[in-house]
Amino acid sequence: MGKGHGTDMKLSLKSPLDMHVHLRQDDMLRHVAPFTSAQFAGAVCMPNTLPPVDNMERFHEYVRQVKAAAAPHAFEPYVPLFFRDDFSREMLTEARDDLFALKLYPAGVTTNSEGGVAELTKIEPVLDIMQDLDLPLLVHGETNGYSPDREREFVAVYEHIATTFPKLRLIMEHITTKDSVAFLDKHENVFCTVTLHHLLYTLDDMLGGLFNPFLFCKPILKSAEDRDVIQALVLSGNKKVMFGSDSAPHTEVLKRTEGMAGCFTAPVLLPMLAQFFEDHEALELLQAFVSDNARRIYRLSPPERTVVLEREAWTVPPRYGSIVPVNAGETLRWKLA
Ligand code: NCD
Ligand code: ZN
Repeated sequence: MGKGHGTDMKLSLKSPLDMHVHLRQDDMLRHVAPFTSAQFAGAVCMPNTLPPVDNMERFHEYVRQVKAAAAPHAFEPYVPLFFRDDFSREMLTEARDDLFALKLYPAGVTTNSEGGVAELTKIEPVLDIMQDLDLPLLVHGETNGYSPDREREFVAVYEHIATTFPKLRLIMEHITTKDSVAFLDKHENVFCTVTLHHLLYTLDDMLGGLFNPFLFCKPILKSAEDRDVIQALVLSGNKKVMFGSDSAPHTEVLKRTEGMAGCFTAPVLLPMLAQFFEDHEALELLQAFVSDNARRIYRLSPPERTVVLEREAWTVPPRYGSIVPVNAGETLRWKLA
């Protein structure tokens, strides 16, 4: 919490967690992981690598690579296994103690999700096993419909899963709309993550003036009305809501030439969150949003770390190597100590 006054002010957070991040592989992993491990004691590291982390051999190997890239910080990678509808009860039971969760991507809805689930009607046998094993399900909840409507159209799928499997912990990843917010409290077993960019920005920030490809992500940014409902949810202190940045780096060249979806927010996350909560006179809610809620929902024991921010202005660089971050060139009020 805040200590001191004016420029001496410090903010200490206990074991912050980023419950949704893309750390990639190889050189990119080694380049981006330190931004996350410097600020967070642990993170949910998404399995949409090439090839995806969809078996236990790749799982152990990816955990090892992430830990190596995150050093020297004490940092726990929570890697959800990429959901396959042919996972067997035997395999999942044997892997249960190593596993954190499964991540479901409907086929083709986002980066490296081509191998995702093509037919949602086929997922139920695996959901049944997950419910029995108390293994949480994380979902990229978008249909293949008209892009602004994809998340709203998916709420019916969430409803079906939540009612058919009432004991399965279901996490709606990166929610962006008032419909998802309205759905959240309808079922005890439903939780969500919220990103920094969907908390702060609208579609107009991306394309209302000149097109800003660095704010292009899936799900796409929404209306001011939706954004305001997301803000109100986070500022309500709802205990089912967790921070998950969805920081998703792509090189500047690929963003500009291939139109890759994903916002690289990792370097600015805690400073920007502190700024947002401070602007809303709600700094006391930040700890629960960036750690306590996730610890409770997932029953996690991340490394005990105190991460300190100080109230000192700094300017976000135009790029980190080949990657352009969100807020490039902007001056932020809070800095990692
Ligand atoms: C993510 C990525 O690039 O891996 N992209 C994105 O726009 N958020 C995938 C995802 O989480 O949808
Ligand atoms: Zn993501």
